[in-house]
Amino acid sequence: MKPLPPLAQIPPQIAAVADYEAFARERMTPGAWSYFSGGAGDEHTLRDNLAAFQRIRLRSRVLRPVAGGHTRVSLLGEEYEHPILLAPVAFQQLAHRDGEFASVLGASAMKAGMVVSTQSSVALEDLAQAAQTRLWFQVYLQHDRDFTAQLVARAHAAGYRALVLTVDAPVNGPRNREQRDGFALPAGVEAVNLRGMAPPPAAVASAGGNPLFGGPLLAHAPTWDDVAWLRSLSPLPVVLKGILSPDDARRAVEAGASAIVVSNHGGRTLDTAPATIDALPAIAREVGGRVPLLLDGGIRRGTDVLKALALGADAVLVGRPCVHALAAAGAVGVAHVLHLLRAELEMAMALTGCRTLADIDESVIWPGDVPP
Ligand code: FNR
Ligand code: LAC
Repeated sequence: MKPLPPLAQIPPQIAAVADYEAFARERMTPGAWSYFSGGAGDEHTLRDNLAAFQRIRLRSRVLRPVAGGHTRVSLLGEEYEHPILLAPVAFQQLAHRDGEFASVLGASAMKAGMVVSTQSSVALEDLAQAAQTRLWFQVYLQHDRDFTAQLVARAHAAGYRALVLTVDAPVNGPRNREQRDGFALPAGVEAVNLRGMAPPPAAVASAGGNPLFGGPLLAHAPTWDDVAWLRSLSPLPVVLKGILSPDDARRAVEAGASAIVVSNHGGRTLDTAPATIDALPAIAREVGGRVPLLLDGGIRRGTDVLKALALGADAVLVGRPCVHALAAAGAVGVAHVLHLLRAELEMAMALTGCRTLADIDESVIWPGDVPP
């Protein structure tokens, strides 16, 4: 079936973030749908990211004065109106003709920070030009380190506020679901920021040899030393995205990371890794407030945002919901999803007696439901 055109306005049937999914699916090719919605392996982690939030119950608090509250948060020395940012998601033109342009417009309308992927399908400079909000640039270290350094210089020159080094995907895809559905990037959608770079060496495994070890992919995978190198390239703060273990979080702080994103890549890399909300409390204890923590994976409700903040996050990133809204209704859809999440967060704060984000702590979680 041919994908339907984007909605011209938001129908009342879309009352919650999850309602966008069905509308998005009808507006993409089956291949694009499998790319956006799929996870690694058998997709246990993908499912658990959502299920883990549902297992945690909240504790309501009544009759506390909450008038005049707000959701402002300071991140990397700058103030944001609310703690909900757009996660880096590659190739957004697969979802909507305007791709990342529309996401930047939606984010700008809702004063949401946005992390732009190295693999965006619109050039990083063009997005910076269109943005009325703060952008962070997500970095995938390329096999060509000189090209990577140029990419960082471009992001700095274009006014991006931070570099987000993704560390959990040294090997990535094709996922089983993409292969079964025959997903391939269509002509016209490409990682435009990487134009001009020599193609990575082809990964040809000899029969009977190690399929990955010894190949070029892992030879060029980033290591801890590259964090120092990345920091040396520009004055921008470096954020490490994709940390799930307290030990790695401690090393990240020691390596000079300015913030950490607790993430399992939306369940797209190591299957059967834990849900991010389950990994968060131990990391928060280890980091002890030395750097801000962000969390992504499975945020679909304002109550999920509240739970993440209660268990130690300072802010959250949202991936698939924004892509679903982008496919369904372009910039307006993206703005609507951000509005829904923010309105639900404020409602959840009011019902748990929290006036500001500083009031949100473990006491809003039902006793016994705090992950170890
Ligand atoms: C991603 N993610 C991702 N992360 C990253 O650092 N660079 C990237 O280019 C991409 N690309 C990408 C594509 C698609 C289709 C998805 C779904 C995800 C991971 C993303 O930033 C984030 O960690 C997850 O999407 C968060 O989980 P939710 O919100 O999708 O449940
Ligand atoms: C993905 C890569 C692009 O998750 O991060 O598809």
